[in-house]
Amino acid sequence: MISRAVIQMILGQYPLSPKGIHGLSHWARVLENGRNLARKTGARIEVVELFAVFHDARRMNEGWDREHGYRGAELAARFQGTHFHLSERDFDLLYEACRDHTDGGTAADITIQTCWDSDRLDLGRVRIDLDRKYLCTEAARDSALMAWADRRSREGFVPELIWQEWDLRLADKE
Ligand SMILES: [Fe+2]
Repeated sequence: MISRAVIQMILGQYPLSPKGIHGLSHWARVLENGRNLARKTGARIEVVELFAVFHDARRMNEGWDREHGYRGAELAARFQGTHFHLSERDFDLLYEACRDHTDGGTAADITIQTCWDSDRLDLGRVRIDLDRKYLCTEAARDSALMAWADRRSREGFVPELIWQEWDLRLADKE
């Protein structure tokens, strides 16, 4: 589970609005997508959860920002060993998942694939239709799961874990 300290640190440096399309509710939906997927794929759940909160944490704008995955990975590297503790192998998975998440690839370790799918299942919020050929895992290509994730994304659903696990209100930082 992501600690409140990690979320606070990420928000403290996040240059955009936490209410934006790449902000808190996106991170929380990605995290819940990832939890659902990881149960089926066997992905390393700690990596999947940390990916949810780091992969877009260094975006500089809400549009085209080619290097933001790399910057998110570097931010995670700064806080590995202090704010969270992954094994070297798991940290390498997190780093690669963040760095390469915007490249559109599908071939990778199952934990990285699960991270990428958890993010791609939340594309409906920017009116991009889900396309099975860009999903990496069988678990993500499940029709019911795709419909569930897509509906939440398009509705801008705000998961309760923001309050219950992260102890935040969306109004914490404008
Ligand atoms: Fe994302």
